[in-house]
Parts: sequence; C-alpha cells; structure tokens
Amino acid sequence: MGNGPELAGQVALVTGAGAGIGRAIAYALSEAGAQVAVSDIDLEAARRVASEISAATALTLDVTSAESAARAVTEAEATLGPLDILVNNAGVSTMNRIEDLTPEEWDFNFDVNAKGVFVVTRAALPGMIARRAGCIVNTASMAGKKAVPLLAHYAASKWACIGFTVSAAVELGPYGIRVNCVCPGYVETSMQERELVWEAGLRGVSPEEVAEGYIRLTPLGRMETPEDVARVVRWLCSPQAAFVTGAAVDVTGGSHLT
Ligand SMILES: NC(=O)c1ccc[n+]([C@@H]2O[C@H](COP(=O)([O-])OP(=O)(O)OC[C@H]3O[C@@H](n4cnc5c(N)ncnc54)[C@H](O)[C@@H]3O)[C@@H](O)[C@H]2O)c1
Repeated sequence: MGNGPELAGQVALVTGAGAGIGRAIAYALSEAGAQVAVSDIDLEAARRVASEISAATALTLDVTSAESAARAVTEAEATLGPLDILVNNAGVSTMNRIEDLTPEEWDFNFDVNAKGVFVVTRAALPGMIARRAGCIVNTASMAGKKAVPLLAHYAASKWACIGFTVSAAVELGPYGIRVNCVCPGYVETSMQERELVWEAGLRGVSPEEVAEGYIRLTPLGRMETPEDVARVVRWLCSPQAAFVTGAAVDVTGGSHLT
C-alpha cells in the first residue's frame, strides 16, 4: 500500500448524505480520494454537501423506491464511473410506546431502514457482480443489537439491517463483494435532536436531562460525532479492511454495553 489516499480512483454512492452521519461519510470518503455521489431524498441538501467537497456530484435518491434507486445508480455511474463503494446510510426514526405505535409508523421505519438497504443494494449489484468487486457498508445502529425502549420498531428495523448485512456478506463473498455495517450509538445529528424532544415528552423530563443520560450511558463520556462514525466507514472501505466482511462494527464509545 502506497502513501496516496487509499480510495484514489474509486467511486462511492452514499445515501442520506445531505445531513448528519451521511454528510460526514461523504466528506471522509472524499478525503480518502474517492469520487462521491452525494444522494438524498432532499436534493437541495445533497447539492449543498456536494458543493462543499471536491470530486462529488449530487443526486436525488429516495431509498424506498426501486425506480429512484435504479435511476440514481445509472446517473452516478454515467457521471463518475462504475461504483466501487455503496454506503446505505439513509435512515429515519420515530419514538413511541408500543401500545401507541401505529402500523404506518412501523412501515415508515422499516421502508427506509430495512427495505431501503435492500432496494439500493439490489440496484448497485449487477455492476459489482459483473466486475467481481465491491464494498457495501450499511449504517445500522446499536439499536440493532440491544433492547431500546420507545424505539422497538426502529430497533427491529436495525436488527433487520444487520441480518441482511451478514446474509449478503456470505452470499456475495464469492463475487469479491464485501458487506459490512457500522452500529453507532448516541450521535449528535438532527435525528438525535428530534429524539431528545420526543423522549423528553414521553418520559416527562427535559431534553437536556435526556442528553445527560445518554452521556452517562457512554463509558467514553461524551456524545458521539458524525465523524466518529465516518472514520470507521472510511476504514471499512479501505484496503486495510480487505478481509473484513459480515462485520457489524460497534462505534458507540461503549454505550452498546450499558
Ligand atoms: N443519530 C444517531 O444517534 C444514530 C445512531 C445510530 C444510527 N443512526 C443511523 O445513522 C443514519 C443517519 O442518521 P442521522 O442521525 O445522520 O439522521 P439525519 O436525520 O440527521 O439525516 C438523515 C438523512 O437521510 C435522509 N433521508 C431520509 N429519508 C430518506 C429516504 N427515504 N431516502 C433517502 N434519504 C433519506 C434525510 O433527508 C437526511 O438528509 C440512519 O440510518 C440512522 O438510523 C443514527
């Protein structure tokens, strides 16, 4: 391995890259030398991120739509070249007690967090299989490995994401395609801002008290940043991780253990 950026010449598509963790992943992969298709359901947000980083293009991609996924993969490959890396990062959450949870809320979480990972992976696969190479990283969650009250539906969708990741790793390994996921903890993003308010309302405390509780549950003693996650995604995409597949890497400051 030389001293140049480890992803030089590679093409990456990142979903949900208009904000939060996806934005940080787009930055990190670009810093590592990759050309990045910054995609989001919110095209304006994707455009803002793409304009901030070099060697990037912005795309609309709603991960719940197979048609949108096919169009985005075609557009990314036409603009930047064959996809080497796919990061299925887009995700949503809502918070509710199970007895108050609606089937629509369940479907909303599953459509993006579980089905969305499959839909975009399927769109990217024919090219990766033909080229006998590819790297897929999914943003799961520590909620995909542990019990999370008030987020049972979200947790179930992330357990599904991890189940898909490990099964895909076994099925696609013979094509030289690696499939891994990261499992973040309490990350400072707009998703977390919304969750702090919801959880505070449901538990009858202040959002600040909820945030302090998250930090108390984190052995490394601070809130996680999007960059904490992005650095690990960058590593999973790099040649350093060439023999890593089917891993669900905890990036939580230890909060997955508490
Ligand atoms: N924030 C956390 O604490 C945390 C912890 C663990 C895992 N995660 C996961 O990390 C990922 C990113 O979360 P975040 O905190 O950055 O959230 P965020 O809400 O800040 O950003 C999510 C982005 O995804 C986009 N998006 C939403 N629905 C989409 C769809 N159907 N198609 C394409 N894009 C869509 C949004 O427009 C937004 O730009 C998610 O999968 C989330 O579940 C977050």
